[in-house]
Amino acid sequence: DWTMKAFREEAVERIRAQVGSGRVICGLSGGVDSAVAAVLIHEAIGDQLTCVFVDHGLLRASEAEQVVSLFRDHYNIPLVHVQAQDLFIGALEGVSDPEVKRKTIGRLFIDVFDQEAKKIGGADFLAQGTLYPDVIESVSFTGGPSVTIKSHHNVGGLPERMKMKLVEPLRELFKDEVRVLGRELGLPEAFVGRHPFPGPGLAIRVPGEITREKLDILRKADAIYLEEIRNAGLYDEIWQAFAVLLPVKTVGVMGDARTYDHVCALRAVTSIDGMTADFYPFDMAFLGRVATRIINEVKGINRVTYDITSKPPGTIEWE
Ligand code: XMP
Repeated sequence: DWTMKAFREEAVERIRAQVGSGRVICGLSGGVDSAVAAVLIHEAIGDQLTCVFVDHGLLRASEAEQVVSLFRDHYNIPLVHVQAQDLFIGALEGVSDPEVKRKTIGRLFIDVFDQEAKKIGGADFLAQGTLYPDVIESVSFTGGPSVTIKSHHNVGGLPERMKMKLVEPLRELFKDEVRVLGRELGLPEAFVGRHPFPGPGLAIRVPGEITREKLDILRKADAIYLEEIRNAGLYDEIWQAFAVLLPVKTVGVMGDARTYDHVCALRAVTSIDGMTADFYPFDMAFLGRVATRIINEVKGINRVTYDITSKPPGTIEWE
């Protein structure tokens, strides 16, 4: 019978067979998937693995610290923490098309991994936490719909010029299975239960062109929203919740002054695998409380809306 324990053992064997005595670089995104992939690969090949966490400046509040401490303190797995904020944010300047944003970010991730591989004297493999749904939503099948909904940042293979081959031990798994595997591997519950976070990060939660200022505003609103969700005991009932900063300004009044600031949209969905999703039916009092806090505490936002679109026809992320 098929259990996660058996999957773990088989996956470890498969990784050893694929990698041999080669060197592997594993990109960590801060999410559950890449963390589970890294811990699994570390179990298989130990110090042939180097983990790389790229801070692209598109992370949520305190995300980098959490990942670094999980790997360094909890697992004692060596981790290279790359500060690449200027690189990514610079390259995204003037870019407003969602697919161009995604592809730019995907390309830069590869560039950074390539550079880090050179620093350790070359790597033969690049490991990623790609899941089954990432594969199907990014790929067009023969006989299926010939459209790409979104180019996931880590799907689509590596550029020709790169010599590294891919190691993707989670490619057959769904999110709920990755969580079971994460627990099996001893990841802390708080980490295993985290909502998914996309590799392109906050860049796809600021529709249109991003700026550092918009990212800062979004981080504050997002942190308040998630804090309220946790305080209400709703975090684990929700597949994913986040704030989106709209490129629209509207008029408001605060005290006796006119304001002209951004609109913030709140998103929360339930889902099994991210392929379909329903908007989460918060009660109005909860939403009102979050909206009041965001508008009072976050300079730059004067209006909050709640997204009641399910998937399909909407997608979970806005870009
Ligand atoms: P959508 O927006 O396509 O999202 O309904 C489905 C799930 O996938 C996540 N997502 C990504 N994850 N790289 C990732 O690692 C990506 O490029 C990416 N795009 C979307 C999204 O957060 C949701 O959980």
